[in-house]
Amino acid sequence: MTTPPEPPWFPIRTERLLLRKLRADDHDDMHAYASDPDTVRFMEWGPNTPEVTRERMAFVLDQQTRWPRDTVDLAVELVAARRMIGSISLRRDGQGGADFGYCFGSQWWRHGYGFEAARALVATAFETLLLHRVWATCDVRNAGSIAVLEKLGMQREGTLRKNLLVRDGWRDTHVYGLLAEEWSAR
Ligand SMILES: CC(C)(COP(=O)(O)OP(=O)(O)OC[C@H]1O[C@@H](n2cnc3c(N)ncnc32)[C@H](O)[C@@H]1OP(=O)(O)O)[C@@H](O)C(=O)NCCC(=O)NCCS
Repeated sequence: MTTPPEPPWFPIRTERLLLRKLRADDHDDMHAYASDPDTVRFMEWGPNTPEVTRERMAFVLDQQTRWPRDTVDLAVELVAARRMIGSISLRRDGQGGADFGYCFGSQWWRHGYGFEAARALVATAFETLLLHRVWATCDVRNAGSIAVLEKLGMQREGTLRKNLLVRDGWRDTHVYGLLAEEWSAR
């Protein structure tokens, strides 16, 4: 007897956002933030050339044809504007946990969208996927990301020193984690 296929756990609807599959017509919205140096300052990639954005889109669209898969990259759409304002990803780590990451265009910062999207993803990770640990990493200088992760109730578990060589040199990285029991007790 074969196991029935696992249903996808997305799209996810929140109060203002839709976390959904990427579409080919998201290209311009994606390139707008992925090519912006301010937006990608703490990312390991970017700022994208048009070609790199096209390659990234092609990669994700192809990835979306496969299910199940460990890595899910979702577009974050601001429903009222019908625009993709950023992206969020969950990657199952093979140990019953997953890490996640996000990136929103700088014009959309400080409206609560980052936290709203991340909270919905973490809720899905614990309550639908029944993972036991969710974790994330961020550059030690990334005050916005630190604020989102700590608002989610994540604990800083350590700091990796000079573990990443990106554009402007070696970077230090905080590791944040949250356990299922901490999520349910919050
Ligand atoms: C990090 C990021 C996702 C934050 O998203 P956002 O939508 O601006 O965050 P929110 O508006 O949901 O804010 C959540 C909390 O963080 C705080 N915050 C957001 N940006 C902040 C900053 N730069 N400095 C200090 N606090 C900040 C907010 O005040 C809010 O706290 P409050 O509710 O107590 O007021 C966004 O800045 C981003 O996409 N940056 C570029 C990509 C990136 O660096 N990704 C992370 C890689 S690890």
